[in-house]
Amino acid sequence: MKGIILAGGAGSRLYPVSKVYSKQLTLIYDKPLIYYPLSILMLSDIREILIISNEETIPLYQKLFDDGSDYGIRIEYALQTAPNGIAESFIIGEDFIKDDGVTLILGDNIFYGDLDFIYEAIQKNDGATIFGYRVNDPERYGIVEFDGSGKAISIEEKPLKPKSDFAVPGLYVYDNEVVSIAKNIIPSKRGELEITDVNNYYLNKGKLNVKKIGRGIAWLDTGTPESLLQASNFFGVIEDRQGLKVACIEEIAFNKKFIDEEKFRDIISKIPKSLYRTYLEKILKDS
Ligand code: G1P
Repeated sequence: MKGIILAGGAGSRLYPVSKVYSKQLTLIYDKPLIYYPLSILMLSDIREILIISNEETIPLYQKLFDDGSDYGIRIEYALQTAPNGIAESFIIGEDFIKDDGVTLILGDNIFYGDLDFIYEAIQKNDGATIFGYRVNDPERYGIVEFDGSGKAISIEEKPLKPKSDFAVPGLYVYDNEVVSIAKNIIPSKRGELEITDVNNYYLNKGKLNVKKIGRGIAWLDTGTPESLLQASNFFGVIEDRQGLKVACIEEIAFNKKFIDEEKFRDIISKIPKSLYRTYLEKILKDS
């Protein structure tokens, strides 16, 4: 299974900072936003990851992650020249995906809680797997409609009259057919290759699994200044209370044995004196 993080986007709701800065690099409490979706892929045992972004931002991600070897993973980078839609990721990523399945996560999507069911769904995917999460503002998302028996029967992109409150989060798991499906869909009215069209293709073929996400799991929005502040506060409270970091990719790499103790030591030694370094030193000491 390969992984793709789509981390482009204008982020225009964050103007003026969006003039100079990518949303996925904004600080969510103590680390850049993109660490959170990257950690989900790593925790799902996905170790080959393609980051798709724009020309200005790719060099910044390269500076942050290089080739991924510090985290025991392989990271490649690819360019999306214009915001042509989420489904374009599979066309851009075709050579990277090769004959494998692929999990796509949006670079601004944050999940928190007991996520074992997500990691398992990724590892056991057959056809396509997406998720459904109850939200207060369904008109802003792709929305799944379920029949009386709980089976998904339709998905609509940002419907004016939503048929349910279940939004599709930006975490999608596909078999290899997704590449040819993406190549055959046509752009929507907003000029984008819609991920919802890909999902409807699998739905119509009877190959779409939709897993409802229950209580106790957070899927956080990060589109606006308020939601960024909320997400920072959320992780600040949890991390400070427990003394454990969320989405700390160095710790995950070490705990999952993607890197050995010597490499972990080496990485820590290169981090400037900071709370982040002190934290990793404690993880090493306690191991
Ligand atoms: C996109 C998808 C939508 C999905 C959402 C999740 O929306 O088109 O189906 O529910 O991501 O974050 P957009 O980012 O284009 O508003």
